[in-house]
Amino acid sequence: MKAFKIAENIYWVGAVDWDVRDFHGHSYTVHRGTTYNAYLIIDEKICLVDSVYTPFSEELLERIKSVIEPSKIDYIIANHVEVDHSGSILEVLKFAPNAKVFCTQKGKDGFLSHFFENWNFQTVKTGETLKLGKRTLTFIEAPFIHWPDSMFTYINDDAILLPNDAFGQHYATAQRFDDEVPESELMEEAAKYFANILTPFSPLILKKLDEVAKLKNPIKMLCPSHGIIWRKDPAKIINAYQKWASGDYKKKIIIVYDTMWGSTEKMARNILEGISSDGNIEVKLFKMPVSDSSDIIKEFLDSRFIVIGSSTLNKGILPTLAALLEDLEGLRFKNKLGAAFGSFGWSSGAVESIETRLKKAGIEVASPSLTTKWVPDGAKLNECFEFGKKIAEKVKQ
Ligand code: FEO
Repeated sequence: MKAFKIAENIYWVGAVDWDVRDFHGHSYTVHRGTTYNAYLIIDEKICLVDSVYTPFSEELLERIKSVIEPSKIDYIIANHVEVDHSGSILEVLKFAPNAKVFCTQKGKDGFLSHFFENWNFQTVKTGETLKLGKRTLTFIEAPFIHWPDSMFTYINDDAILLPNDAFGQHYATAQRFDDEVPESELMEEAAKYFANILTPFSPLILKKLDEVAKLKNPIKMLCPSHGIIWRKDPAKIINAYQKWASGDYKKKIIIVYDTMWGSTEKMARNILEGISSDGNIEVKLFKMPVSDSSDIIKEFLDSRFIVIGSSTLNKGILPTLAALLEDLEGLRFKNKLGAAFGSFGWSSGAVESIETRLKKAGIEVASPSLTTKWVPDGAKLNECFEFGKKIAEKVKQ
């Protein structure tokens, strides 16, 4: 396995994980796999930026060896503690035990708590620089993008930003650059990544984007630690982050439901018809558990409204919806509206539970809920249709 040259004396030495299908403790499905990107800079000092997930150590070392003996590495820039980026540092240090490891103070604390070894650390702060020879690196602390320890590394002379988790995508390909892959796939994975991982940190991301815009040299290449490198048009993903972090939305509604004996499903289908009858609203329907929560969260990123339906079970919701509602509570999307619907037999409870959870997630309940006792008749199905039409009207306001 060989290193891949991305600029003069700068190489991608990462690993492609074609097989992984879930991430972060199964909370995020990665249908297209992922990559763990590490970068090798050859100068008077040899510098490795980040590493790869532990099971891929051998792949990293092989790629490094195709350029230089790993024992020659002088510096390791450890932008982030999470093991998908730091898991192979120990293996690299076996070859280069005296290499200096640059990270934030929180990074050092995190490494000590993960690997229990006192490496040759040098902690850095925003604006501090490291001269490699011809090239100079500048460090930019980026707390909570995606952990408290995270930082970006900027290669001044080449105007290349190595932002670790930011601007990434879980996307395994044989290509390395944005101009080599279908744009729709790339942006879909970038959006899913933002929605599922970075949404809660949106206010911090907006501040960080301002900081990045003020860098001395405008960014020519963005090299994240997952997925594809942005070289054709780095502004495309920067602008997308600006929109996503601002809570920008389209005239779009998603309906998510589960059903016990089909009554809530009939309601969902007729609500969908009511919304679609408007003709100007994008609407998507997801049934649980056959739909994937992290795909739904990606669809919610640019939506205005979520309509959630459940049959009542034990005075609450069907458990298949609970994981999605839990995720929404943690992610705290901005500028979203929601409503609840569902059927019940002898005692209501699902819609009340959905509304409580929507409010906890910071989603404004923007319509009274709609319920059916037992099975919806023709009149009730008309009511569902009208319920959908009213929601469409709200989204157009
Ligand atoms: Fe890709 Fe926060 O690790």
